[in-house]
Amino acid sequence: MSQYDVIVIGAGPGGYVCAIRCAQLGLKTAVVEGRETLGGTCLNVGCIPSKALLHSTHLLHEAEHNFAHMGLKGKSPSVDWDQMKAYKDEVIGQNTGGIEFLFKKNKIDWIKGWASIPAAGKVQVGDDVHEAKNIVIASGSVPASIPGVEIDEKIVVSSTGALELPKIPKKLAVIGAGVIGLELGSVYARLGSEVTVVEYMDAVCPGMDKDVQRSFKRILEKQGLNIILGAAVQGVETSKTKAKVRYQPKKGGGEETLDADVVLVATGRKPYAEGLGLDALGIKMTERGQIATDTHWATNIKGIYAIGDVIEGPMLAHKAEDEGMAVAEVIAGKHGHVNYGVIPGVVYTTPEVATVGATEDALKAEGKKIKVGKFMFMGNARAKAVHQADGGFVKIIADKETDRILGAAIIGPAAGDLIHELCVAMEFGASAEDVALTCHAHPTYSEAVREAALACGDGPIHS
Ligand code: NAI
Repeated sequence: MSQYDVIVIGAGPGGYVCAIRCAQLGLKTAVVEGRETLGGTCLNVGCIPSKALLHSTHLLHEAEHNFAHMGLKGKSPSVDWDQMKAYKDEVIGQNTGGIEFLFKKNKIDWIKGWASIPAAGKVQVGDDVHEAKNIVIASGSVPASIPGVEIDEKIVVSSTGALELPKIPKKLAVIGAGVIGLELGSVYARLGSEVTVVEYMDAVCPGMDKDVQRSFKRILEKQGLNIILGAAVQGVETSKTKAKVRYQPKKGGGEETLDADVVLVATGRKPYAEGLGLDALGIKMTERGQIATDTHWATNIKGIYAIGDVIEGPMLAHKAEDEGMAVAEVIAGKHGHVNYGVIPGVVYTTPEVATVGATEDALKAEGKKIKVGKFMFMGNARAKAVHQADGGFVKIIADKETDRILGAAIIGPAAGDLIHELCVAMEFGASAEDVALTCHAHPTYSEAVREAALACGDGPIHS
């Protein structure tokens, strides 16, 4: 039996970051992880592999659509799907191997296997029971399906199966126009699949800024995705090699169907805490099946904490990472803190979409007096040079009286990186004028952020 200051359960972005910070703070730390490799969903079957496929298929799209125009003539590349998947696996390997290196460097023990918590202060893995003064549950989430739709990871797949399809489907049906549906839908559309996305709500990416939703849909449709909004999927029937998706348009009329070779179910994820023995321990859960925690990520059982997708809040790797660092500091007797008001959300399509803070609609609904500065990438020289000026923009929402930035939404080139200028501004309580008065290098995409900030005041220059 080994004794630790902290045992973290799960080596995803929440768990591994927590473990590293614990070790840095001088705590004897172990991580229990049952997968063959570290990194959890994000590194193994989520963020990282999908980014590899988004990158390679983006280049394919560029070769097919823009190379000749830029004077790059010659045959377009053909797709070797197995090699593309091998490249994706290589990227996964480099990243998961990197975490293993960081564990060794920080003297963190990796206990291989699946953990349960027989009692506070104890973690069981196989026949071994380890003692820990503190336990951090970072067990993550798994894909959630909907009634009438059974995921078999062959014809009806979750994001996990969609990253490993044996061949590129002729017809791909996607249920849900959220982040996963649109990122992976984009990948397969660029690979030549006929992609149809069926979404229950009346807009893509429900909850996002309305202007972004409209622009994003238009841009995706231009890229060849068929998007059916306001349609509730009722069920999927499969034969050996095909599927039929049944959906009910909300506007009425009869049920409609959609034929597909593969169906991607992208209707959200649910917290995963199976096998941990939380019931027997008496750990309090929320109505939505998440582990209930207080503002310091403590559960109702002393010495047991929880972070990431298994607790409430957005299911985002970086939210879990921040909680991982913060809970490590709490355990070490410091003051861990996460500012939930400034957690960016990014969709890694081309163009990228990124948001932070409150939306215009939410602020209006609460009666807040706001001003909105918007700048189209059409006025940005650099975006024009890379074929990404069309339809994109930066939008900054600021308090009408104080000029303080309350939220932002960007659709355009490198939006996922640009958003962080505004995150930092928000963390510092900056005004739109602060951003507008900051010199931005020319020619960069970031000038569009400055122009949107100028639009909150006396007006942008290039529109
Ligand atoms: P999501 O919550 O983003 O989207 C699910 C969509 O499915 C919603 O638009 C919903 O209205 C729709 N839907 C639900 N039931 C339906 C039905 N019966 N018929 C038609 N549409 C239906 O969930 P998603 O895309 O599966 O992602 C899961 C989680 O993973 C999210 O929390 C997401 O933030 C996270 N994630 C984040 C990424 C990123 O940050 N880039 C990438 C991938 C996932």
